[in-house]
Amino acid sequence: MGKPDKMNKNIKDTNEEVKDIQDTSAEEVKEGSAESMSAITSDMANEATDNDLISGDNAPMVLAENLVKIYKTSELEVLALQGLDLRVERGELTAIIGNSGSGKSTFLNMLGGLDEPSAGKLFVDGKNLFKLTNKEKVLYKRDTVGFVWQNNGRNLLPFMNAMENIMTPMHLTSDKNKKERALELLDLVGMSHRKYSRMNQLSGGEQQRIAIAIALANRPKLLLADEPTGSVDRKTADYIFDLFKRLNTEYHQTIIIVTHDVELSKKVARVVAIRDGKISSERILKEHYSNLGNGEINWMEEETQDEFSIVDRAGRIQIPRNMLDSLELKGNKIKVTIEDKTIMLQNPEEKI
Ligand SMILES: Nc1ncnc2c1ncn2[C@@H]1O[C@H](COP(=O)(O)OP(=O)(O)O)[C@@H](O)[C@H]1O
Ligand SMILES: [Mg+2]
Repeated sequence: MGKPDKMNKNIKDTNEEVKDIQDTSAEEVKEGSAESMSAITSDMANEATDNDLISGDNAPMVLAENLVKIYKTSELEVLALQGLDLRVERGELTAIIGNSGSGKSTFLNMLGGLDEPSAGKLFVDGKNLFKLTNKEKVLYKRDTVGFVWQNNGRNLLPFMNAMENIMTPMHLTSDKNKKERALELLDLVGMSHRKYSRMNQLSGGEQQRIAIAIALANRPKLLLADEPTGSVDRKTADYIFDLFKRLNTEYHQTIIIVTHDVELSKKVARVVAIRDGKISSERILKEHYSNLGNGEINWMEEETQDEFSIVDRAGRIQIPRNMLDSLELKGNKIKVTIEDKTIMLQNPEEKI
């Protein structure tokens, strides 16, 4: 894959970062709160990712294993991702929801090749993202992923028109029919009538539609969108969300879309929730409904979906906050019992 010296450097960096984590957990032992960090490091030691699973025909589009991200500033360390596991199949549309600060953008930026983890593994389309050389990473960002941001200023060149903007990412590719492709994309996002408009002549929602066309320009295998409806009104948000759904159902585009909009997320067959840098729960369309056409489903009805908590390899789950609060625990101890394959969690002070 990469040049040996570069790969060695990557391995060295990773080792140093793993050591940093171990140092952190050693410090935290003194404070008596090291369980999660030491579990993370022991998980890493036990980890054995099967290579065939990653690059074979049935390989998922995304496989994230135990991703850890620590941001270090001079004053403090922020654990943005705390052992995140996620698998996304080819052709899936997955929504990620979570409170502000839960690690959604950190994860999406890693998928986009814009950030590196402190530990863990990430495979996209069979590529181990953290073993790419700089050159491979440039190609990855150009050809494998397309990115749509909340603030579309990151996608758009303000003084170029819509057509020119869409053709910009195609310049370095061998695509022969750049103009035709741009026209096709303008049509797809419903913006054919504005092809010669400059970006500063378009509304926020229209700009976002052009940003989606730009992200699709090089036919990415994975389309990433970080709160793409965060700065537009309700009606435009619905339009944009439906556009993502259409890309998925009609063109089988694999899409991961981060949103804080719970109503919009209900339109998606699979919604994963991030809490404190980890996938805490997942909502999946019930099997019966997944056999129906889109038009036959009332997406706003709760009963169409099942909600599950996610249990990681170490057996940890995150108890939904409202359930935990209802137990009114005084400390951090909880009574766990099992009966008829049903596990119960109780306040130890509560009489059974
Ligand atoms: N570059 C950075 N430096 C330091 N801390 C960061 C940086 N980026 C994100 N964080 C912190 O990491 C956590 C997760 O952030 P982020 O992934 O942006 O969350 P979200 O997108 O879910 O709102 C937050 O506590 C945030 O303050
Ligand atoms: Mg964010």
